[in-house]
Amino acid sequence: MAKLSYHYPLIIRIWHGLNALLILLLIATGISMYYVDPDSRLIEFSLAVQMHNISGIILSFSYLIFFIGNITTGNRKYYKMPLKGLGERLLKQSRYYAIDMFKGKKKPYPITEERKFNPLQKLFYVIIMYIGVPLVIISGWGLLFPESIIKAMFGLGGVLITVLVHVAMGFFISLFLVIHIYVSTIGHTRSANFKSIINGYGWVEETEEVS
Ligand code: HEM
Repeated sequence: MAKLSYHYPLIIRIWHGLNALLILLLIATGISMYYVDPDSRLIEFSLAVQMHNISGIILSFSYLIFFIGNITTGNRKYYKMPLKGLGERLLKQSRYYAIDMFKGKKKPYPITEERKFNPLQKLFYVIIMYIGVPLVIISGWGLLFPESIIKAMFGLGGVLITVLVHVAMGFFISLFLVIHIYVSTIGHTRSANFKSIINGYGWVEETEEVS
């Protein structure tokens, strides 16, 4: 039987809302600066640069909220990923998203009190929050203070490497966002997960083994 359980502590919800807004701003201003024809820019160049820099600085502090929140609240347990059997769990979940879901089969890892994310979701959250976002922030600060960047590495200029890391991570986060929003619609109902990340309560389906 499905019931509601308190899944998203206030600090994580505040972080998430701020983070989503900032990332959307960073993507819009980033695309405007890099890819759009100079004559028909989405946002005027100097304004885009200013908005991008300010959003990036606020994002750095909001990331600290996430980092501290995930250490100091019980939320950290949901990010633990035992390596034993990981491949098998990822394969089962991928099979569900690619095939079984469309046949109306049951979820292999339904949400429980102890398991807020399925294995694939957990892997993506760990990669994005502990690799993608930190790298985009560090490279962003590097580009804000280019004099702090090492001169060259592997025969390539330090600034060029920093730009490549920044743009690649920005692209990766944008791709994550599209998949993240799609996967969020596969909940108790289409809109259930979106309501949960706002009011804190998520649907748990049954209590069973954690993985
Ligand atoms: C418009 C933008 C966004 C929407 C609509 C959205 C939606 C959601 C929803 C519905 C959930 C709850 C479902 C779940 O537990 O997985 C969630 C959780 C989460 N989202 Fe987003 N999201 C957005 C942007 C982002 C961005 C940009 C990131 C990271 C770069 C992100 C990272 C996360 C993480 C890590 C969680 C789990 C939080 C926790 O409970 O520990 N989201 N999001």
